[in-house]
Amino acid sequence: MAHDVTLIPGDGIGTEITAATLRVLEATGVEFAWDRVEVGEISLAAGGPVLPEAVYDSIRRTGVALKGPVATPVAGGHRSVNVTIRKTLDLYACVRPVRNLPGIKTPFEGVDLTIVRENTEGLYSGIEHMVTEGVAESLKVITHKGSTRIARYAFEYARKKGIGKVTAVHKANIMKVSDGLFLECVRAVREDFPEIDYNELIVDNCAMQLVRWPQQFGVLVMNNLYGDILSDLCAGLIGGLGVAPGANIGDVGAIFEPIHGTAPDIAGKGWANPTGMLLSACMLLDHLGEDAAAARLRASLDAVLEAGTVRTRDLRGEAGTEEFADALIAALAG
Ligand code: NAI
Repeated sequence: MAHDVTLIPGDGIGTEITAATLRVLEATGVEFAWDRVEVGEISLAAGGPVLPEAVYDSIRRTGVALKGPVATPVAGGHRSVNVTIRKTLDLYACVRPVRNLPGIKTPFEGVDLTIVRENTEGLYSGIEHMVTEGVAESLKVITHKGSTRIARYAFEYARKKGIGKVTAVHKANIMKVSDGLFLECVRAVREDFPEIDYNELIVDNCAMQLVRWPQQFGVLVMNNLYGDILSDLCAGLIGGLGVAPGANIGDVGAIFEPIHGTAPDIAGKGWANPTGMLLSACMLLDHLGEDAAAARLRASLDAVLEAGTVRTRDLRGEAGTEEFADALIAALAG
């Protein structure tokens, strides 16, 4: 039976990598009934709202979505589409696995870590205002509930995947109350996971450790802003934004999407690397219980990347998005 899945192609390179990913998914033989919803600039250009209610209706019905990047128009005072979707559906766990891919040479080998980022509060709570002329204020909201559930998610993820270490990333030396509460909650949760090693790192030190010795890490749990920044840094460890997947997970559903944005500098050129989106699609297949298809797709992707003859420009190749998808489809068939 076909899987009901919401499809949000997104803006910019989103439409290009989505088209390529759909072709590849079709080649896996898994059947999908896509419920396509346009949001962001594409929806606005068609005379619709930047964030149509249909997105929520669809995800509440299907429970799962595959999404490309979305640009929130800067003019017009729109709230970030991505942050709003995650908050409205309470998709509190942003999960970003970072692993070396075969054939993509970087200064680092043996990277295999996962960032678990709190996705609904922190400095992205959207509470911002001018206090008086020339003075702006942005509130960082940390709650016991939000910190405890993200900590539990991180430890349970580590246990499920057999990962032996969880690191809490914070800035409690400066933000003693807010990050202090976060740490207190993580420490309480870790008591239930005695078999997992635990340590704590201040975020600036963590950034340095990541670029010196990333192999020391397993799961890193942190609040919203630190997770946003460090996940781009971690993508850099394995070949850049084009190869990093992610998921936003909550109790009502899950959205799978690459970590990168709409890449306006290359949008429309057909150059975008679909690997981050394809690996997000693998996470979607895992989530749907299509383990065999996910494994086949990952193996084919590894084979194409390792062969290195068809490679996108961000990885110093010359292939376009569609050409890369063709090579992958051939590998799946072979
Ligand atoms: P970006 O991730 O779009 O681009 C940064 C750099 O990485 C650019 O040079 C781009 O060409 C390159 N890049 C990104 N993805 C690539 C891919 N698949 N293949 C090859 N090269 C790739 O970040 P930027 O420019 O800061 O953001 C652009 C827009 O995207 C903004 O409107 C932002 O709000 C939005 N955005 C949306 C996200 C989402 O929907 N989840 C996440 C991040 C940004």
